[in-house]
Amino acid sequence: MMREPLNTNEDKEIIKAITNIARNFHASDTTGHDWFHIWRVCKMAKHIAHHEGANMLEVELAALLHDMDDHKIEGSDEENLPKARQALLSAKIQELLLTKVLQIIRQVSFKGARVNAKPNSLEACVVQDADRLDAMGAIGIARAFAFGGSKGFEMYNPEAKPVMHESFKDYKSSNSSTINHFYEKLLLLKDMLNTDTAKSIASRRHAYMEEFVERFLVEWNFRE
Ligand code: ADP
Ligand code: NI
Repeated sequence: MMREPLNTNEDKEIIKAITNIARNFHASDTTGHDWFHIWRVCKMAKHIAHHEGANMLEVELAALLHDMDDHKIEGSDEENLPKARQALLSAKIQELLLTKVLQIIRQVSFKGARVNAKPNSLEACVVQDADRLDAMGAIGIARAFAFGGSKGFEMYNPEAKPVMHESFKDYKSSNSSTINHFYEKLLLLKDMLNTDTAKSIASRRHAYMEEFVERFLVEWNFRE
């Protein structure tokens, strides 16, 4: 395990400023992208970064800003990331760091079952893993139903079969039931993680989701 340098006072000021921007931005969200999602991802990303020897400042900044330009937000631009860029510019960080953080954010998002490109930096691997872990386990289950409810999706519809989305466009426009979302994304995540630290945290969360779906279907079919 590598030791990352301790954050300097200047780094701490930058993180404080970016934390405030992210907290304000996500304050009123009810679709699973609330501030506490960002807060959990940030804590998890730091934990993973510590064990994997990733650059702490890059990881923390990217985690804080990773959902500000998300494709689910009206009018967002996932290539140029204007909101994250603006936040970083306002904190007056160096050009090189700004470019690196935006590149991490671009690589984080889940784009469908068959569209999984592995990020090309350790820092992006770490933030992607932290974001994915927050879609798993008890919290992942809660977020999926909160998201589905906010979009008016059905909890479950036995007539609609899960679809393995071939493209990001298909995945984005999908309105399948929340139980199908488990087969289309949540139960696939454990095999899509990058780091050993995240894989070991994922195994319990995965087992819990499997048990949940099994129980849901047992009760639905009134078998017990
Ligand atoms: P993340 O913030 O982890 O990148 P997403 O932006 O893909 O996650 O989605 C936010 C939350 O909503 C996640 O917990 C995700 O699993 C859930 N979600 C996304 N799409 C659906 C869907 N079609 N049905 C139910 N839940 C969904
Ligand atoms: Ni996220």
